Amino acid sequence: MVEIRQARIGDAGPVAELHVATWRAVYAGMLPDHVLLGLSSAAERSYWRRAIGSGAGLCSVHVAAAQDGEILGYGSAGPARPNGLPFEAEIYTLYVAPDHHERGLGRRLLHAMFDHLRDHGRDSAMLWVLAANPARFFYGAMGGTLAARRRERHFGAELDEEAYGWGDLNGLAGAREKARHGGAGGPGGPGGNA
Ligand SMILES: CC(C)(COP(=O)(O)OP(=O)(O)OC[C@H]1O[C@@H](n2cnc3c(N)ncnc32)[C@H](O)[C@@H]1OP(=O)(O)O)[C@@H](O)C(=O)NCCC(=O)NCCS
Repeated sequence: MVEIRQARIGDAGPVAELHVATWRAVYAGMLPDHVLLGLSSAAERSYWRRAIGSGAGLCSVHVAAAQDGEILGYGSAGPARPNGLPFEAEIYTLYVAPDHHERGLGRRLLHAMFDHLRDHGRDSAMLWVLAANPARFFYGAMGGTLAARRRERHFGAELDEEAYGWGDLNGLAGAREKARHGGAGGPGGPGGNA
């Protein structure tokens, strides 16, 4: 029984801890070691307090919360940062705790963010993912299409990235139904890269 909901200020600490843990797990070998070792839950907590606190309107932070309150995943979204691509909105982050992968939580979080963006008048969305990150296949599985490639300097390293885009968030009705009803974690039941 996992609930997908908008984050509250009290979620900032658990989201920060999950952020540090997932970054260290996902990006080992992709990002420089000193970046991963230097991550601080305290600094992340202030960042997420601000992000959640300013989350009214188009910008949002969503969490996947277990019945006992444990935060199992999170995602954030808002207006697309300028990049020359024809998408109105951007998924900035999407992370699910490694022990809870493949339970449908990533899909549910992504669709909760899509719904929020649609509710705020945005019909298209995109995200950036490191080209070395196998999570890019997840975005393909979620109906995203490869929209661009670029090489960017992050944390002192040149990194290849791919953009995945959804040109019509209104046309995702079938996928949205699956997000509502699919997966063991079903209802009732990442300047960042997504
Ligand atoms: C990518 C991520 C968010 C997916 O979340 P998840 O909860 O494990 O995914 P779900 O269970 O919702 O998967 C939905 C579908 O996508 C598929 N899928 C999940 N991860 C996949 C992957 N890496 N490659 C291909 N398909 C994938 C699932 O098999 C499932 O398929 P189905 O439609 O046949 O049921 C999660 O694996 C994660 O947090 N990864 C580490 C962090 C990360 O890299 N985030 C992205 C940064 S850009």
